[in-house]
Amino acid sequence: MIGRLNHVAIATKDAIAASKIYRDTLGAKVSAPVPQPDHGVTTVFVELPNTKIELLEPLGDNSPIAKFLEKNPNGGVHHLCFEVGDIYEARDRMKAKGATITGSGEPRIGAHGKPVIFLHPKDFVGTLIELEQA
Ligand code: CO
Repeated sequence: MIGRLNHVAIATKDAIAASKIYRDTLGAKVSAPVPQPDHGVTTVFVELPNTKIELLEPLGDNSPIAKFLEKNPNGGVHHLCFEVGDIYEARDRMKAKGATITGSGEPRIGAHGKPVIFLHPKDFVGTLIELEQA
């Protein structure tokens, strides 16, 4: 029921340094940093032919990636985002399958202005999963 891989999110303490690695070493097209105060992160988008990489740097005091970076001080893959057709249908199906939806369990507007839910890593091979209504 999941569709395309929308993005892979990588948490880092320094999005500028990370974006230089993607641009200068790997030769990818990268955006300027975009502060997203509502989401507690600054984002750099790396455009690839078939998907995107999002480099996430903490922004503000209560960043949702702060704890992850405490455990992973060198950064690392934070979540995968898959596209779904209908976020409410996806939420209901995940609940029925016994998956844990993080936070309130209700869809909220994600970093791309589209409704998303996050699924707890314990149910998905240790990987935080974001489902985004495409
Ligand atoms: Co994401």
